[in-house]
Amino acid sequence: MQDMSGKTVLITGPTNGIGRATAVNLAKAGANLHLLCRNAAKARTLQEDLRKVNPEIEVEVLLCDLGDFASVRQAASAFEAKGLALDVLINNAGILNTKHVVRPDGIEEMFAVNHLGHFLLTHLLMPALLRAPAARVVVVASGAYLMCKTLRLDDLAWAKGFRPLKAYGHSKLANILFMRALAKRLEGSAITVNALHPGEVTTGLGRQNGWWVSALHRLASPFFRNPNQGAATSLYLAMSPDVEGLSGEYFDDCKVEVTKPWGADMNMAEDLWTASEALVGGVPSLFNSKAEVPK
Ligand SMILES: NC(=O)c1ccc[n+]([C@@H]2O[C@H](COP(=O)([O-])OP(=O)(O)OC[C@H]3O[C@@H](n4cnc5c(N)ncnc54)[C@H](OP(=O)(O)O)[C@@H]3O)[C@@H](O)[C@H]2O)c1
Repeated sequence: MQDMSGKTVLITGPTNGIGRATAVNLAKAGANLHLLCRNAAKARTLQEDLRKVNPEIEVEVLLCDLGDFASVRQAASAFEAKGLALDVLINNAGILNTKHVVRPDGIEEMFAVNHLGHFLLTHLLMPALLRAPAARVVVVASGAYLMCKTLRLDDLAWAKGFRPLKAYGHSKLANILFMRALAKRLEGSAITVNALHPGEVTTGLGRQNGWWVSALHRLASPFFRNPNQGAATSLYLAMSPDVEGLSGEYFDDCKVEVTKPWGADMNMAEDLWTASEALVGGVPSLFNSKAEVPK
C-alpha cells in the first residue's frame, strides 16, 4: 500500500459503505483524515474507530449536510481556516431515493446532494487543493449514468417522468460531466480530477426507502462486491503513482473506461457548470475562463 503519511485527505460520506472502507484504508496508509459527515453521532464513532486503526494520524470531523448549501459553505470555511494544503478530496457521499423528493427550491434531492453539494464544496476547497504540490480530486460516480442520456436542466424538479433509477443516473451523469468540465479548467495546473464507478456494492445505499431495499441488498450480496472491494478504485485514484498527472478520465476496476458519448459531452458539461453556479447561489471566481485556473 502507498504511504500517505503527512498527506491530508477530505472525504465526504465516510460513515458507511464505500466511504467508510475508503477512510479505513487511508487511515492504514497513514493519511490525516477530514471526515465530512451529516450525522454527528456516527461521525464521532467513526473518528474513534479510525484513531484506533492508526493512532499516529489526525482525524477531524466536519459536520455538513451536502444538500444544505449554507452548511457546505460553513464546513468549507472551517476547513479553509486551518490553512492546510489538501492533497486529496474524495467526493463520495451519495443517495438513491425511490420516492420523488423535490426540495423547496424546486430541485430534485438526488441532484442537489450528489451533484450540487459536491460542485460547491469542490469550488470552495480549491484554494486548499492549490496549496498541495499535486492534489487529486476523486469523484465517486456510477455506471448508473448509462440510464440517463441527457441532463434535465429545464426540469430539475423532474415534474415529468420521474423514475428513481433514471433520476439517480441523472445525478451520476452530472458527477461525470462536472469532472470533465473541471479537468478542462485544471489543465496546466498540478491538480487532477477523475471519476469512477465502484462496481455494484453491498452498502447502505437506498436503504432509507424501506425494508425491501435491505432485503434486495441481502439477496444481491453474493453477487455484489463488499465495501472494501468497492473502495478499490477510489483508493487507486487517491493514492496510486500509476495515475500521477492523469486527469479527466472515468475509471472502472482501476482502469480507464471510455464512457458513452453523453458521458463526455462537453456542451452538456458546460451547460451544467453554468446552471450549477447559479443553483448553488454563486461560487468564487477562481476560474478566469472556461479553461484556466490560477497557478
Ligand atoms: N453501492 C453501490 O453499488 C454503488 C454503485 C455505484 C456508485 N455508488 C456510489 O458510491 C457512493 C457511496 O455510496 P455507498 O454505496 O457507500 O452508500 P451508503 O452506504 O449509503 O453511504 C453513503 C454515505 O453518504 C452520506 N450522505 C448521504 N447523504 C448525505 C448528505 N446529504 N450530506 C452528507 N453526507 C451524506 C451517508 O451518510 P449517513 O451515514 O449519515 O447516511 C453515508 O456516509 C455514492 O456516491 C454512490 O452513488 C454506489
